[in-house]
Amino acid sequence: MHSQAQTDTIKPTDIWPDNNGNHIQAHGGGIIKVKDDYYWYGEYRSKGLDTNYRFVGCYTSKDLVNWKFITTIKFGKPDSTLTYWVVERPKVYYNERTKKYVMYLHIDGGVRDPVTKKVSGGYSYARVGVAISDGPSGPFTLISSFRPLGHESRDIGQFIDDDGTAYLVFEDRPYGFRIAKLSDDYLTVEKQMSLIPEHMEGGAIVHYGGLYYAIGSSLTGWSPNPNKYATATSLAGPWSDFKDIAPPETNTYGSQSTMLIKVVGSKKTTVIFMGDIWKPKTQWDSRYLWMPLEIGDGKLSLPKPQPWTLNVKTGEAKIVN
Ligand code: DGJ
Repeated sequence: MHSQAQTDTIKPTDIWPDNNGNHIQAHGGGIIKVKDDYYWYGEYRSKGLDTNYRFVGCYTSKDLVNWKFITTIKFGKPDSTLTYWVVERPKVYYNERTKKYVMYLHIDGGVRDPVTKKVSGGYSYARVGVAISDGPSGPFTLISSFRPLGHESRDIGQFIDDDGTAYLVFEDRPYGFRIAKLSDDYLTVEKQMSLIPEHMEGGAIVHYGGLYYAIGSSLTGWSPNPNKYATATSLAGPWSDFKDIAPPETNTYGSQSTMLIKVVGSKKTTVIFMGDIWKPKTQWDSRYLWMPLEIGDGKLSLPKPQPWTLNVKTGEAKIVN
């Protein structure tokens, strides 16, 4: 461990060191801003973790570039009928009214039927878990797990609109990509806004220039594929057709979407594509591809990964040549 020098440059695809010099472990993550602080939560997949638990990494930053490790949050097996289990894509919302931090998790795995004892493998549980905490770094207590609005839910994404309303995006395998509003206390999923009949994972949304942009990947496991986007003037749709966010032969430059972050500065608004470069056999070494998007007038495109600087105060992002 060493103390990491401060920088203003994001280097997509490289090791991304935290303040201790360790590669950030927050894969499939999500970010919230509370006052002047950003918090990044994601799958913590270091080597040598206790296999009785699944871990979420929690980091904080004031500039979205330099990240300080805060803690890992651990979860035990949420249901004894699960044979194999995973906790993926944690997303945390801060509820101004209740002052609680509410974490949504994709909880999944194989299930043993308690009566017949038959095991259905893979990702058949298809639920969200909800955990709450009084502070950003926990302790988080898992309070429930359910299928949102009764639907299967695998990859989840979070979206907070400009008016503060919180939404969950979830992948419902038989039907498609659902966008739903959370209840006022964020503890449950209350109302469907849209069902987009496309099979998409890694769902993310941003509200920019009067339009909603929804992005997602196709269903190819850990392998990258051409991520796509659609637009709508309302979260309820109608949604446009989906188009590629990058030249399709690059497979999104080897990455998969997890979130879109809007940075509103004094001079500019920048939207950052936050993607994962998964390394399924060495997950601890999975990388990040964050790039400022070219976005506006219904078009969105992801530039090729290259170093860039970000100033969160002015909102300016500059490619380093
Ligand atoms: C694709 C998903 O986007 C990931 O989060 C993970 O669930 C993998 N599938 C598992 O194969």
